[in-house]
Amino acid sequence: MQPPKSFAGRQIAVTGGCSGIGLAVTRTLVALGATVYVADISPRIPDELKGHGNVHITLLCDITDRIACQSFLASIPGRLDGLVNSAGTARWEGRVGTDEVFHRTMDINVTGTWNMATEALARMSTQKEIEASGIVSGSIRSVGKGSIVNVGSGASLRGVSGLAAYTASKHAVLGLTRSWARDFPQMRVNLVAPGATETPLVAATLVGAPVGDPSVDVGVAQVASIPKGRMAYATDIADAIVFFLSDESSFITGQCLPVNGGMV
Ligand SMILES: NC(=O)c1ccc[n+]([C@@H]2O[C@H](COP(=O)([O-])OP(=O)(O)OC[C@H]3O[C@@H](n4cnc5c(N)ncnc54)[C@H](O)[C@@H]3O)[C@@H](O)[C@H]2O)c1
Repeated sequence: MQPPKSFAGRQIAVTGGCSGIGLAVTRTLVALGATVYVADISPRIPDELKGHGNVHITLLCDITDRIACQSFLASIPGRLDGLVNSAGTARWEGRVGTDEVFHRTMDINVTGTWNMATEALARMSTQKEIEASGIVSGSIRSVGKGSIVNVGSGASLRGVSGLAAYTASKHAVLGLTRSWARDFPQMRVNLVAPGATETPLVAATLVGAPVGDPSVDVGVAQVASIPKGRMAYATDIADAIVFFLSDESSFITGQCLPVNGGMV
């Protein structure tokens, strides 16, 4: 049996860490010994993270603002071992969405990921390699200078009815992931593609969708057809993200891992 992953001494930045998947990642990492730095546009610290010495939260931090991203990362002293880009938005668009929703969706999901990751990649590039022993072989191996995990979506890989802007944004995040993995082989950049996951975002996505709208019906039907028989919990997605941050995935980069209960 493998020993549990340890993140003792590791410092990880998480965007969108005040809710849903980002919150689950933060809680898991802290339980594994990491120090976590959260950036979130939220004005409120979630109860689960209140008073936790190993979690540092920057509230009202808008990832679409480059300067805000720079200041957030500058507030992290020492090494930056990992970055999770979980902050994101989804709004039901109908068959033809508005310019406003399109631009806002691209801004948060794509520009926000771009801002935070390009700043982090520049910083990680200046860090020294770290090494760890392989669990099975016992050999010493390089685990690189840092790991970035972008949160995509099933919509990174296929079209989704009523969510064209969101789908375009999540395809773009996959494109960034794959190119950065090639451009920065000393680091690792991967993407986790969640299927429908029980978070506040799911409810928000359907705000404005009229009852009986075909895209909502498609969404409901898709959830009903998940082979595992349920939506993912945020912790299901967090576990995959933590794997990509860990030394156990040290030779994996540029990959997309769907976590969707068997939707193949
Ligand atoms: N929940 C799902 O079914 C699902 C499915 C596929 C992909 N995803 C993706 O997972 C990621 C996390 O979603 P979630 O379900 O946890 O949503 P969530 O709404 O629970 O959490 C998103 C967090 O991002 C923060 N945020 C939003 N805009 C921001 C900004 N401009 N700057 C900083 N922080 C900002 C919010 O305040 C919130 O805390 C998103 O990228 C989403 O697209 C979610």
